[in-house]
Amino acid sequence: MSTVDLLAKIPNNVDLKGDKKLQRALEEWQPEYLKWWHETGPALHQDKDVWLRTAIDVTAEGWAQFDYVRTPDYRWGIFLADAVPDRKVQCGDHFGQPAWQEVPGEYRNMLRRIIVTQADTEPASVEQQRWLAQTAPSLMDMRNLFQVNVEEGRHLWAMVYLLHKYFGKDGREEADELLRRRAGDPDKPRILQAFNNPCNDWLSFYAFTMFMDRDGKFQLAALAESGFDPLSRTCRFMLTEEAHHLSVGETGVQRVVKRTAELMREHPGKDLRSYGGVPLDVIQKIINYWFTYSIDLFGGEISSNAADYFASGMKGRFREEAKETEHTGLDQGKVIPVVQDGKLVNREVPLRNAMNECLRDGYIQDCERALAIWNKELEKSGVEQRLTLPNRRFHRHVGEYANMFFDYEGNLVAKEAFDARKAAWFLTDDDLAYLRSIMKPCLEPGKVAGWVAPPLKGIGGKDMNFEYVRL
Ligand SMILES: [Fe+2]
Ligand SMILES: [Fe+2]
Repeated sequence: MSTVDLLAKIPNNVDLKGDKKLQRALEEWQPEYLKWWHETGPALHQDKDVWLRTAIDVTAEGWAQFDYVRTPDYRWGIFLADAVPDRKVQCGDHFGQPAWQEVPGEYRNMLRRIIVTQADTEPASVEQQRWLAQTAPSLMDMRNLFQVNVEEGRHLWAMVYLLHKYFGKDGREEADELLRRRAGDPDKPRILQAFNNPCNDWLSFYAFTMFMDRDGKFQLAALAESGFDPLSRTCRFMLTEEAHHLSVGETGVQRVVKRTAELMREHPGKDLRSYGGVPLDVIQKIINYWFTYSIDLFGGEISSNAADYFASGMKGRFREEAKETEHTGLDQGKVIPVVQDGKLVNREVPLRNAMNECLRDGYIQDCERALAIWNKELEKSGVEQRLTLPNRRFHRHVGEYANMFFDYEGNLVAKEAFDARKAAWFLTDDDLAYLRSIMKPCLEPGKVAGWVAPPLKGIGGKDMNFEYVRL
């Protein structure tokens, strides 16, 4: 097992002190990072104690140490999962050869692009969530928000370590740029569109951690299969932390659905706006928005980049080693519906070119599983309506279906037909104004805002009444 240096300026299990040049470079990046945290991290309560878990090593006992800490004092460290002895390349043209411990020259640019794209999403989400503490529906929710934020910060550290260690001067420049781009900034936006969208209310935050962080899970899982071993080890440990983010999102939406279902049962046929609840159609509209932006993140349905990533062994499929039986992806195809002469037709493309779609398939299945849990809440309260996921072609901005219009069921339609139904599919200004009006902070320990059910359980060995943030 790796040894952990906890007393170092940057806690780590990568023997930073054995590489003075790297250590110095990262220690120079550290104050820039903290400046970024102060300027664009949580806008409120950076001076307050928060009940947070901190990773101090990668073992089952060490990765979640709970204590009170102010977020700027969080010990952001660099942790890689332990190496698997004699690990091999998991897929593509080099399948079965020893995994790379250094960056293979011919894949250097590709690998840097993969790492930078993943890295950019980490600070972006912190920026998007900057103002949410203002309207937290409970102290525990606020704590969860800060936990997600500090861990996205740690994920940035994880990626910056790879850039600094393996990519020389270009890597250091990329690391600096990661602190310069800003979510939603028209001049210096974050790389992926969905990470520039505002996330200013708590229903959106739950949907964000449900859908966007879940995209992260699938991307990290695919990179955990990388033949570049340091990337694989980094992502394996990030996935451990990611699970909590997903549960904040999934159970968050579930709690809103539960409260909505209760109100619908108590006031049948009435507009829940009169009772301070979130109408079911507003929940559905938020799902439509974040689900469709999140499936954009998987990239084009037919993609030569995806084929190259797989062929080179730099990125595998979801659980490539454990679940797949054939790892070259050659002589196989996948059918993708494409638009040709104004009609949808099925086209079979080489499997390697469809790797983004394979990853998206698994993601959509996972989302459907969560939907079924949310719908159970409606069923339990005797509510007949159900929540749904739109067809994957609906409202897309990336890939085969971008710049075209599909209805909710995925049928190709004219722009006018799409526009005519927009208000039924997405939040209107009125919906937004209403949502904002009910997002009032509820900060007494043990209390929860009226539009959302209480958390299902406490955190870090504490119950709901615990003072998760000492305000
Ligand atoms: Fe992350
Ligand atoms: Fe996350």
